[in-house]
Amino acid sequence: MPGETVLDVEELCTHYLTSDGEVMALDDATFKLHRGESIGIAGESGCGKSTLAFSLLNQVQPPGEIMSGSIDLDGIEVTDLSEKQARREIRWKKISMVFQGAMEIMTPVYTVGHQMVEPLKYHKDIKGKEARRICERYLELVNLDSGIFDRYPHELSGGQKQRVIIATSLLLEPDIVIFDEPTTALDVVVEARIMNDLKRLRRELDISMIFITHDLSILAEVSDNLAIMYAGWIVEFGSAFDIYKDPKHPYTEKLIAAIPDIRKDIDRLEFIPGVPPNLVNPPSGCRFHPRCHKAMEVCKELEPEVYNVDGVKVKCHLFSEDEDIAEDEEASYETAYDDETAAEAYEGELGTEEVEDGIEEEPMEE
Ligand SMILES: Nc1ncnc2c1ncn2[C@@H]1O[C@H](COP(=O)(O)OP(=O)(O)O)[C@@H](O)[C@H]1O
Ligand code: SF4
Ligand SMILES: [Mg+2]
Repeated sequence: MPGETVLDVEELCTHYLTSDGEVMALDDATFKLHRGESIGIAGESGCGKSTLAFSLLNQVQPPGEIMSGSIDLDGIEVTDLSEKQARREIRWKKISMVFQGAMEIMTPVYTVGHQMVEPLKYHKDIKGKEARRICERYLELVNLDSGIFDRYPHELSGGQKQRVIIATSLLLEPDIVIFDEPTTALDVVVEARIMNDLKRLRRELDISMIFITHDLSILAEVSDNLAIMYAGWIVEFGSAFDIYKDPKHPYTEKLIAAIPDIRKDIDRLEFIPGVPPNLVNPPSGCRFHPRCHKAMEVCKELEPEVYNVDGVKVKCHLFSEDEDIAEDEEASYETAYDDETAAEAYEGELGTEEVEDGIEEEPMEE
């Protein structure tokens, strides 16, 4: 049934309990995904995107742990499942994931086919010719020659390997497929082709998709809704069209302004000064406040609520109807980042004259 909710996530918190302290990688994530719909999740490296993805599969590795919240996957409470139940009942069958860097872990000594049939054998006891037939069908669906079934991974290009991984994720006809940075290691032409194919497959197979990337520019074409993440929070969630057209959260505003636009004659891209915070000890109040160009006094002290602004959910004090906060807004704009000063400071840090890329890359180990 179109419009049916297949995933309902409420106040989900996943932390890593490390010897250096508790890493608050994901806090209060709340959103819904409907059948056949796609959500794009974007934000700088380290903001919790992969943690969210692993949480949805109940596959967070120690020292990570789902601390609280709920994940209703088509009537199944995922957070209640044991590892064995999750493996048997939901992974591959109801929700599958193309992991970041998955193509690198294809085993070189086995053929593509040998590796592809595994989930069919394990979950459906389908083997032999029947398994081959299904795999070949999905290889063709992702625009590969079915002969690739008998080839070895080292004989394939990066793009072909990634397509094999995508075909494998679809084999058991899951309701939802998560793509975590699916094209990051590929060149832009291959990336564009794969994203186009995924768009087509979503329509043809009527599956819901979650696309994760640090690069907001590649989500416009493939996402119905967008979730913008910052420091473990979903700071803006709503229709991709609305958010690209009129971003509400100051962080989203900057992310969108940082997308290169070949139609505009700009000599310098926007950027976000500073670096994402350490999530063991994130900034007080709004976690974005040390980098926010619209920060107010209240932002340092009080965590913002999520406000519904024209159908888009925004976690920012700017949209509060509380009169005290509104007064603060008028009073304390001067505490906000001055773009020019911040730019100079940032360029100083980099030791460069020009800022070429809008978004900080890989500030931490993956
Ligand atoms: N195994 C781990 N142990 C400790 N901290 C982790 C681990 N995995 C991720 N983190 C931390 O959790 C936060 C979110 O990471 P991640 O979900 O990988 O972000 P993203 O996918 O957006 O780059 C980061 O601060 C990261 O350092
Ligand atoms: S709550 Fe304050 S610091 Fe946070 S994004 Fe909004 S204006 Fe900026
Ligand atoms: Mg990641």
